[in-house]
Amino acid sequence: MTKKTTVALLFGGRSAEHDISVLSARAIFRNLDRRKFRPISIYIDRDGRWRRVASPLFAADKLARRPAAGFLPWAGRPLARPFQADIYFPVLHGPYGEDGTIQGLLEMADVPFVGAGVLGSAAGMDKAVMKILFEARGVPVVPYRVVHETEWRKAPGSVLTRLRRAFSPPIFVKPANMGSSVGITKVRRSAEARAALELAFRYDRKVIVEAGIRGRELECSVLGNDRPAASLPAEIVPFRDFYDYEEKYLDGQTVFHIPAKLPAAVLAAVRKTAVAAFSACGCEGLARVDFFLEATTGRLYVNEINTIPGFTEISMYPKLWEASGLPFPRLVERLIDLGFERHRAKKRCVARTPR
Ligand SMILES: Nc1ncnc2c1ncn2[C@@H]1O[C@H](COP(=O)(O)OP(=O)(O)O)[C@@H](O)[C@H]1O
Ligand SMILES: [Mg+2]
Repeated sequence: MTKKTTVALLFGGRSAEHDISVLSARAIFRNLDRRKFRPISIYIDRDGRWRRVASPLFAADKLARRPAAGFLPWAGRPLARPFQADIYFPVLHGPYGEDGTIQGLLEMADVPFVGAGVLGSAAGMDKAVMKILFEARGVPVVPYRVVHETEWRKAPGSVLTRLRRAFSPPIFVKPANMGSSVGITKVRRSAEARAALELAFRYDRKVIVEAGIRGRELECSVLGNDRPAASLPAEIVPFRDFYDYEEKYLDGQTVFHIPAKLPAAVLAAVRKTAVAAFSACGCEGLARVDFFLEATTGRLYVNEINTIPGFTEISMYPKLWEASGLPFPRLVERLIDLGFERHRAKKRCVARTPR
């Protein structure tokens, strides 16, 4: 029998999406084929301390009870039980996990890991940067403006005037680096814009203001490294006014159509654009690309890319692969293979650098 591959699941984390991360890690833990893989569970608490735990299946208070350690040389005592894994799987959503920070740490350690590297992760986290990359590759994006905190603090009145001239309501105001709809407001009347910007600036120093698109929301899963493939797209039909935090995690009244009920030509365009968006951001491994399909014009826009999308058994990313013929356990296996493949390819380049 060949030796089992040890997979270290890194989950929890410092972001607002801590709880979702634990749920995603549980699903991956349950679906790792034990004939081939041995999971190691590393729980990162909300303060960024690491703990080796028996599994992600324990309740949050149990996870937090184990002895904690800093993982940087200057951050306190090291882990009591050091571990060594063949590959690392960051199952962390949002800042300090999905944004290139942990990927940088893993690169420094020269270990294989699942998903996008530093660049793709950072680009995919920042809604302003990802739009610039999309535009450069001809991937359609919703008309938008970026507002920096310094200009907002200096002259909010002129920022608001500028925005009023550029857009008519509804507009969407969002922090550049967040997720799960945290800090996002749909502004229906210009008078509400100020409060929306103030809220968004609580989460980030950079804020995106966008034209509100009336139409349908679509999502498509992408998988691969150099030759990424797109799944069948899905449609999300939010029950509330938009797909906000309550709706995503608390209400559970959203309707999902898998696959989306759309003409074949539209489905094909979504898949092609999803792959273009993935490549534009320099992603690797996996990403979920989210779209708007405008009602009046039939225009397709990429809203955003998520490099570590929700990964529970009922999450869209694995669901779409399941619908496309790749069941959850095989999807996880494929992602691990892609992580090894990328690490080997990178090693070959390093071997070529002159000393
Ligand atoms: N420009 C827009 N037009 C219409 N709806 C939008 C727009 N931007 C965001 N939304 C709504 O808000 C939700 C969350 O916005 P999104 O940019 O995806 O942020 P997050 O990264 O938090 O998921 C979307 O799923 C959609 O329902
Ligand atoms: Mg989103």
